[in-house]
Amino acid sequence: MHLTKNEQKMLDGEEGNAVKKSMEILVALGNIYGAEKLIDVGSVQISGVSYHNLGDAGLEFLDEMAKDGKVRVLTTLNPAGMDLENWQNLGIDPEFARKQKLVIDAFEKMGIIVSCTCTPYLIGNLPRYGEHIAWAESSAVTFANSVIGAKTNREGGPSALAAAFVGKTPCYGLHLDENRVPDIRIEVTAELSKFSDWGALGYCIGNAASGKIPYITGIKEATVDELKSFCASVVTFGSKPLFYMKDITPAFEKVTPPTEKVTVDQKALQAGYDAINDETEDIDFVCIGCPHASIKEISQIAKLLEGKKISPTTEFWVATSRPAKQLADSRGYTKTIEDAGGKFACDTCMAVAPLKGRFKAIATTSAKGCYYSRHNLMLTKMGSLEECIQSGVTGKWS
Ligand code: F3S
Repeated sequence: MHLTKNEQKMLDGEEGNAVKKSMEILVALGNIYGAEKLIDVGSVQISGVSYHNLGDAGLEFLDEMAKDGKVRVLTTLNPAGMDLENWQNLGIDPEFARKQKLVIDAFEKMGIIVSCTCTPYLIGNLPRYGEHIAWAESSAVTFANSVIGAKTNREGGPSALAAAFVGKTPCYGLHLDENRVPDIRIEVTAELSKFSDWGALGYCIGNAASGKIPYITGIKEATVDELKSFCASVVTFGSKPLFYMKDITPAFEKVTPPTEKVTVDQKALQAGYDAINDETEDIDFVCIGCPHASIKEISQIAKLLEGKKISPTTEFWVATSRPAKQLADSRGYTKTIEDAGGKFACDTCMAVAPLKGRFKAIATTSAKGCYYSRHNLMLTKMGSLEECIQSGVTGKWS
């Protein structure tokens, strides 16, 4: 890979140890994937923030990088393993909280914005169409590539951090237009009548596309919340982190329809639900907000919970970003949800919090949430917001 004089100096260690290590990571990646050069990035989204996933080895690596490393571009953080302010209320172990705070301190020292959300595009890290970025959260990467039309590979935690310290990333993969060509056409004839249908649709298309870029037709309209749910699901279940959707995503008209074609009908959508949902009646955990709930979703939750009480046998979380929670505070939604017995899980979510073995069965609107909750040994139920709220109130799935 060709390096400029400045880049060579960084690699030689003239700008400190963190930059040198970062250049080593970027050059190694570039050489593996055949990149010819590094390109500037407009922003970075870092994953691998939860101490649950990082462990002590990850914390040591971050401490080392924080000694002289400072980010050069707008850099935001993925969810951590707990609510940074209100972790006791979520039943987090104090020793875990101590370690998680050390992780956050290291990131803060590097000049990273402690946003702790997987929806950076809703809180101010909003790339431009065509802009190169280096993001590492799969649902956000898919949203940025497809809905916004920015260009990013699905970075790992260390490569995203390296891009933040250097302000550049190797030019390969989805940064190149020739690799952004769709290769499977998906005709959707299924009716999408409730929010969780977007998670089931993501499951169907992700499985059908399996490592390919989908070109999707047949969908008449989609809200931002529906698209963020679909982005999380489609990439979790197998597609590349980029799709084109007729009349909805910006670059659809510029690409050629692929010849290979698959149809997703009502039967396929139902099969998606059947694959995601387990056999269980009892629900002891409800978590809404995967990806993190927007203020609109929080308002819908508040409306549905008004005057109700969450079952004493069920824990009810709204996973969201801190700015969305602050908006919810000012509009009275927080009070309504908390009066009903619900809790806000800011900065975290059901996948990255240390929940293994704590709950038996989760109800959620999110297919990705179900996928990761199975890793945390929970049985899973995916359904509409109304169904999830009802299960929170009764402790049963009906
Ligand atoms: Fe976000 Fe956690 Fe879901 S990181 S996309 S809420 S699994």
